[in-house]
Amino acid sequence: MKILLISFSGTSHTTMCGDYIKKHFEELGHQVDHYSIKHDVPFTYDINAYDLIGFGYPIHAFNAPAAFVKFIKKLPKLKEKKRYFIFKVSGEPFAPNNASSYHSYLKLKRRNFVLFSEKHFLMPYNIIFRYRDSLAKQMYLYLDALTKAYVLELLNEEKPEKLWYAPWHVVWSFLLRIEWVAPFFNSPFVKIKKDRCVNCHKCIKECPVGAMFINKKGKIRIKATKCAMCMRCTMYCPTDAITYGFMNPWKVNKPFLFEKIKKDKDIPAEFVNKDTKGYFKLFNKYFNKQKALLEKYNIPNPIEEYYK
Ligand SMILES: Cc1cc2nc3c(=O)[nH]c(=O)nc-3n(C[C@H](O)[C@H](O)[C@H](O)COP(=O)(O)O)c2cc1C
Repeated sequence: MKILLISFSGTSHTTMCGDYIKKHFEELGHQVDHYSIKHDVPFTYDINAYDLIGFGYPIHAFNAPAAFVKFIKKLPKLKEKKRYFIFKVSGEPFAPNNASSYHSYLKLKRRNFVLFSEKHFLMPYNIIFRYRDSLAKQMYLYLDALTKAYVLELLNEEKPEKLWYAPWHVVWSFLLRIEWVAPFFNSPFVKIKKDRCVNCHKCIKECPVGAMFINKKGKIRIKATKCAMCMRCTMYCPTDAITYGFMNPWKVNKPFLFEKIKKDKDIPAEFVNKDTKGYFKLFNKYFNKQKALLEKYNIPNPIEEYYK
């Protein structure tokens, strides 16, 4: 098959997930292109020429990011109906996350895209609070194994995974579509700390939607009409120089160095397990479900493999 993956990612977790999906399809002899939505990389693919399309995004406030929805709105109507799947990445396994694609699903349906599978992958939060490295490690180890299982699930025509959600989850995600207005309130209050900024302009160069710019006074500012609230600028700033408006208390600075964390034997590979209590208890339910999927396709448990 010829497969096209189209993903939006703020802090690279969704890109990573798409790259793993690409790798596992390619291992089985399929041809895959992966386009990461970026304001300065034009979309030049002939979407009608592919057998299967995969859309990926990070969940933002129980929704697909506005930047992702804006992109799919620009897609042409397909000449004939085509199947697609969704891979979405987020920090927690709460059920309302399941309905995050509903808005995009309606838009894609009008363009002749037929949804046949959807899968939710857990990766660390890039907002609110920083997950421990051990949880990041557990999620990262699972990502490789799970994307492999998912590719096999997609190729197994029987019944690939589809997420369940109730009508009230759709209502909930609709009510939380704050990303369509929040940048207008937040952006004017985004400031760069002069004493910390080293003028590397990483925030400007790496912003996926081209929202950061230098104004006439030579100051770095953010365009409210463009900001995707993806947190890339705040996470990747090497000197933590960005004060991110009202959302500053939710800022998580410094990206997760997944490969380094993976290699570091002092960091446990399992943070969530059957004894986990409190907030992370639900995560154990998620991992148990994933273990069953891995078993179905005879894929070794990544945590057990790690300790071998
Ligand atoms: C504005 C914003 C809202 C978010 N809302 C949710 C959410 O509703 N549920 C969730 O599980 N994670 C949420 N997250 C966390 C991201 O989905 C998560 O960190 C993901 O790994 C980021 O992927 P990326 O690196 O591809 O952007 C949110 C992140 C941002 C920036």
